[in-house]
This record gives sequence, structure tokens and C-alpha cells, in this order.
Amino acid sequence: MTAERATDNPQVSEEGLQDSMDTLQDSMESRQHLLGSVAAQGVSKVFLPNSTSKVTALEDINLHISPGSFTTLIGPSGCGKSTLLRLVAGLIHPTQGVVQVNGKPADQARKDRDYGMAFQTASLFDWRTVRKNIELPLELMGWRRGARQQRAAEMLELVQLPEFADSYPSELSGGMQQRVAIARALAFKPTLLLMDEPFGALDEMTREHMQAELLHIWEETNTTIIFITHSIPEAVFLSTNVCVMTPRPGRISTQIEIDLGKRTDDTREREDFFASIVKVREALRSQEST
Ligand SMILES: Nc1ncnc2c1ncn2[C@@H]1O[C@H](COP(=O)(O)OP(=O)(O)O)[C@@H](O)[C@H]1O
Ligand SMILES: [Mg+2]
Repeated sequence: MTAERATDNPQVSEEGLQDSMDTLQDSMESRQHLLGSVAAQGVSKVFLPNSTSKVTALEDINLHISPGSFTTLIGPSGCGKSTLLRLVAGLIHPTQGVVQVNGKPADQARKDRDYGMAFQTASLFDWRTVRKNIELPLELMGWRRGARQQRAAEMLELVQLPEFADSYPSELSGGMQQRVAIARALAFKPTLLLMDEPFGALDEMTREHMQAELLHIWEETNTTIIFITHSIPEAVFLSTNVCVMTPRPGRISTQIEIDLGKRTDDTREREDFFASIVKVREALRSQEST
């Protein structure tokens, strides 16, 4: 019926089409602009609201993360860091407020696979080679074999492990396993990478090496990163923004911008690096006395 009408009056139909094209273009442009962004507005999360063991894990969280930035969440255990990350991932829903990823509800972003995730344990499948572990999400998403293999090879280059493609996870060190997990999380080119204490189980030297690796990956891929850590130097070395969180109920008490430019090994010995560490430490301390 509609099609007939359109043919009867091509003038109207063309105008109508043009209007919808313009609307589509506008929405794509605004979405483009929001790619890699995260916004939380007035977000609270209460677990077990109707029970005596009710926990207000987060209260009145307001956070705006711009595309391509590196944000660290730091704060004492139990202050709600993992809860906030899971809300951004759309794995749980806020009790109040709104979380948006790439300009759409977090739940939709999860369905659209807009983010990759990495945790403290690499959680690789022991019976699959490194290459096959990286290919796994691509298999689940229906990528063809050739495209999968090519992407896995690119990711292995990115994390500087090409010679380990056919090794099994148990043959790799902890740091290498974590690099494979990062490669797997980024294989399908998500705009956002969510990392929950990914280097927490590594020794200090490996950890510093991994931080440099992660910054290299971040620069290469332009992915927005949200990273949880307990280490103040790690937060300062990695981030463009540090969010200091306070417990009971979990809130973001301070947001500190870090402006150290491109990081190198020397960065860790610079005065402005130490000055930023002091700033974060003081922000964490000031909450203890309140
Ligand atoms: N699924 C859950 N059910 C009940 N309480 C929870 C749940 N997940 C987290 N919590 C509680 O919420 C608070 C914040 O937890 P979490 O986000 O894991 O903190 P963090 O990652 O900063 O250590 C803690 O008190 C924790 O016990
Ligand atoms: Mg946690």
C-alpha cells in the first residue's frame, strides 16, 4: 500500500526519503562522536534491597569518560569498583540512574559487543592453543576461518607474542597469559576495554613491563580503557584520569587528571610523576579521616 502511494507521488516520496536519510546521517554522526564514550548519571546500586543484609554498593555516581581516554578506578576493597565496571558492562543494572556506552544504554552496548573485558586471572582455555584462544570470540561471532586466522595473527603481533601462536597457555608465563587475554578481549575491535585488576597477580617487574605493553596497545588501537587497580603508581603511570573511590556507600570522591604526556621508562623517575602519586595518595587518605 505504502509502496503504491510512493509511486503515485514520486515527489513526496523523494522528499520523505531525503528527510529520513538526513535523520539517519544526523544520528550516525552523533553516534560516531560518542563512540568510545561512557557516561554514568546519578547511578546507585543496592544489592539485596529487601533483605537485612542490604548493601548500598554505589551511590550517586556521575562519570563522563571521553573517547580514547584511559580511566583508572582506585579505592579500598569493597568500595564498588568491580560493581561500577559491571554496570558499564551491562552485566548488572543500576538501582537508580543511567549508564550509557557509545551513546546507548549499557545493556544494548553489551548485546552489540561494544566492549572487551579482562580480569585478574587470564581465564584461557588450557586445551586450546594461544591462537585458538584468541579466535574463540570470533568463532562465537561467526567470523570465517580465514578472517579469524588473520585477525589472531594481527593480535599476536600487537601483544608481541607471534612466536607463541601454537603454544598452549600452560607453556606461557603469567604475564604472557595476560597478554593473550588482552589480545582475545580486543580481537573483535571493541571501542572499549574494561579491565578489573588485570595485573594484580603479577610480580612487580612483570607488572611494569605489562603497563608499558598496555600503553602501546592503547596507543595503537585508540580504545577507551577503564582499569581497576590498587596500585597508586600503576594508576598514575597508565591513566589520563584517576577516579578515587570511597566506601560505604561507594562514591567517586575525587577525579584527578594526569598530564604526563607520552610515558617512557624515565617517566617513573620524574618529579611530576611523584607529584601525581602524592595527589592520588592524599585523595585516598583524606577519605580515611572522614
Ligand atoms: N552480587 C552481590 N550481592 C551482594 N553484595 C554484593 C554483590 N556484589 C558486590 N557486593 C557488595 O558490594 C560492595 C562492593 O563490592 P565490589 O564492587 O566487588 O568492590 P571492589 O571491587 O571495590 O572491591 C561490597 O560490599 C560487596 O560485598
Ligand atoms: Mg573488585
